[in-house]
Amino acid sequence: MNTQEIVELCKRHTIFSWSAQGGVAPLAIERAAGIYLWDTDGKRYVDFNSQLMCNNIGHNHPKVAAAIKAQADKLMFVYPGFATEPRARLGKLLAEITPPHINKFFFTNGGAEANEGAIKVARLFTGRQKILSRYRSYHGATHAAMQLTGDPRRWATEPGAPGFIRVMDPIPYRYSFGATDAEKTRNNLEYLSEVIDYEGPHNIAAMFIEPVIGTNGILPPPEGYLQGLRALLDKHGILLVCDEVMAGFGRTGKMFAHEHGGIAPDMISMAKGLTSAALPLGALGLSDKIAEHFDKNVFWSGLTYSAHPMGLAAAVAAIEVLRDEKLVENAAKMEGVMRRHMEALKAKHPSIGSYRATGLFGALEFQKNAQGERLGGYNQPHPAILKTVKECLSKGLFTSNHWNTLFCNPPLSITEEQLAESFAIIDDCLHNTDEAFEG
Ligand SMILES: Cc1ncc(COP(=O)(O)O)c(C=O)c1O
Repeated sequence: MNTQEIVELCKRHTIFSWSAQGGVAPLAIERAAGIYLWDTDGKRYVDFNSQLMCNNIGHNHPKVAAAIKAQADKLMFVYPGFATEPRARLGKLLAEITPPHINKFFFTNGGAEANEGAIKVARLFTGRQKILSRYRSYHGATHAAMQLTGDPRRWATEPGAPGFIRVMDPIPYRYSFGATDAEKTRNNLEYLSEVIDYEGPHNIAAMFIEPVIGTNGILPPPEGYLQGLRALLDKHGILLVCDEVMAGFGRTGKMFAHEHGGIAPDMISMAKGLTSAALPLGALGLSDKIAEHFDKNVFWSGLTYSAHPMGLAAAVAAIEVLRDEKLVENAAKMEGVMRRHMEALKAKHPSIGSYRATGLFGALEFQKNAQGERLGGYNQPHPAILKTVKECLSKGLFTSNHWNTLFCNPPLSITEEQLAESFAIIDDCLHNTDEAFEG
């Protein structure tokens, strides 16, 4: 098929996510390797968002491809009631890289299902019904995961299931809990403590957080927040679920983002970097205490494709690559390089108000004036930012924006030279946002 036929048939017969279908204009991609994608006309693009922040080890890693092929030749599928070698290997591997008290995993098809599982498990284990999560969050598109989600993608599914309470995190969109990290942490936890009182702590099963907020701004928590939150929830017997779907598997320069706060959750939901997106797979890690509960009590969940051997084999290979090629370490090392590029762009382009990077989890944030007002509003990306994203694509760099932020989340295998190449393209396109800067 030629490019036009591919695009036309995809548009005519398939649905594209989160869009009015009439407006979509997809690029037709043919192949990928490392940090690059090639379209069906042979044009090359840097993947500066690791697709949906999921391709952590880079595209089409030969070791993962070989593991998938080997598994396909031996055993493509058996139902989840059987034991298999990839299942044995991945369970052991995950137990090694998660906190010491997390040793059992339930496998799903992706991140939303891992969070759905966590909601059920939290309720079954505690006997409580209410679930806390935060407004600046995304936890998945299935029905209950949408109720965990704070961002506007939730609105279409409301009123949704009962029992979900959303709160502000320490860095809400407009409201300020204080000027310093210490103030933000203290004041936010005091506010949360009061919400918990109002809701009745004995009714609350769990709180879900992204330890570094992903799509909703790439926001690391203020100093002390994760420890303070852990202590507050412990005081009330409320479980802490860390959604590491996006931030996990090395993205932040540590294997899991919660490690930055020196805390350990009761459950971890994972997906994306688990297979580096080679095949769909999610997982929910359970603490020993929670896992023991299900020795005597039924684990009321299951999926036809839970523990699918192909996904598990891909995950084992992807995690081994992450380890063997020291990509978590590379993400930590490249943070400084990325920050230097961001600082240089900020010095040159008045429309950049701020930037952040934790490992290779980064964003540029745009302002419309010297007072630091955001360029565009809540849930309203400014046309100049959309133009920037489009021009980057035309100049050979794929990335994405969330309202007034531009995402900088390349595969963790990126080199210094490739970062320089990527930021040079972005530099070239920022005249769009600078033209919208009002001074
Ligand atoms: C933090 C977080 N949790 C959950 C999900 C949902 O994962 P999936 O799309 O695999 O269902 C996402 C997806 O972007 C995510 O970023």
